[in-house]
Amino acid sequence: MTRLPTAEDKFSFGLWTVGWTGVDPFGTASRPALDPWEYAERLAELGVWGITFHDNDVFPFDADEATKDRRVARLREVTERAGLVIETVTTNTFTHPVFKDGALTANDREVRRFGLRKILRATDIAARVGASTFVMWGGREGAEYDGSKDLFAAFERYREGVDTVAAYIKSQGYDLRIALEPKPNEPRGDILLPTVGHALGFIARLEHGDIVGLNPETGHEQMANLNYSHALAQALWSGKLFHIDLNGQRGLKYDQDLVFGHGDLLSAFFTVDLLENGFPAQPDGPRYTGPRHFDYKPSRTEHFAGVWESARACMSTYLMLAEKARAFRADPRVQEAMAYSGVFDLARPTLGDGESIAEFLSADDGFDAEKAAERDFGFVRLQQLAVEHLVGS
Ligand code: GCO
Ligand code: MN
Ligand code: MN
Repeated sequence: MTRLPTAEDKFSFGLWTVGWTGVDPFGTASRPALDPWEYAERLAELGVWGITFHDNDVFPFDADEATKDRRVARLREVTERAGLVIETVTTNTFTHPVFKDGALTANDREVRRFGLRKILRATDIAARVGASTFVMWGGREGAEYDGSKDLFAAFERYREGVDTVAAYIKSQGYDLRIALEPKPNEPRGDILLPTVGHALGFIARLEHGDIVGLNPETGHEQMANLNYSHALAQALWSGKLFHIDLNGQRGLKYDQDLVFGHGDLLSAFFTVDLLENGFPAQPDGPRYTGPRHFDYKPSRTEHFAGVWESARACMSTYLMLAEKARAFRADPRVQEAMAYSGVFDLARPTLGDGESIAEFLSADDGFDAEKAAERDFGFVRLQQLAVEHLVGS
């Protein structure tokens, strides 16, 4: 057992996470739904710092303007009273069947115009509640059949959509940054922008890409058999790690949304190590300072007690791993093993200071490939030290 979370830990939860009633493709709800502010109040009691929500987590899809205003105001009142930050707002462009072929990239132009308007209205809400990040998860932007979409046009429309949202944010003077959330599949057979790498390539083509970054999710990268910590690292290196969705996933299957750490625990250890301690050879390198946001689902088997238990588990696992990661970095054996492995040497530029390519090509380093090939890197020892710290010995 570790210490209890505090606001300083910057833990946050989507209202749709603890608010999931257990509806899945095979079954109806296994728990009743509470009002959004009730979830917020309970989360605050657990030591949570912030919450996030979709527009339709707070008001129904067909709500009139007065209802929308009233419900958002009520949530805001409750969060303010509870000392909670509303750190992110996002748009539901996936539940209503009008979005069955996507919102920004639907083949039907009328649907695209409706979807884009809904997203712009959600940025108004985000600004109104003081959010700093606007997440865009295009879960229905994709296809089941390769012949069903002109993919060039789909990327054009995606770019048009995201650039319009970014341009609107700027024109309104909102203090918001957009975070795109990649996912390889589910609910579509294939989703556009399936991984962090694809999304980074997409952002580079935007006109307003300066305020567009990423919200990588643990399980989404792992559903594509990719390494989540590497994804975070490349987003950080690109100056694009705007937000994170932490959860657990066990291998290549549907999006499990398990409690953080209940999937690949060793990978979770290195994720927390990167988030808390940064890159080992970059003391002044980029660091993630944003919310530690969980996007998980309390299993359908659990009562409400289990809902709160699982939210606590996400935070407590994170805190335990943070403690272990600190001890790992501080361990002189680890520092020595990292030095032996050359971890710190990678930070040194390959070319000399001011060395031209011509000089480089003609330089005689006295390099002996046979001798260099004999080097032992000791990576296994370093990894075993991580395992020792993780499981205790
Ligand atoms: C999923 C996604 C969503 C998004 C959420 C915020 O797989 O369902 O992770 O939970 O994070 O819609 O945009
Ligand atoms: Mn997900
Ligand atoms: Mn998510």
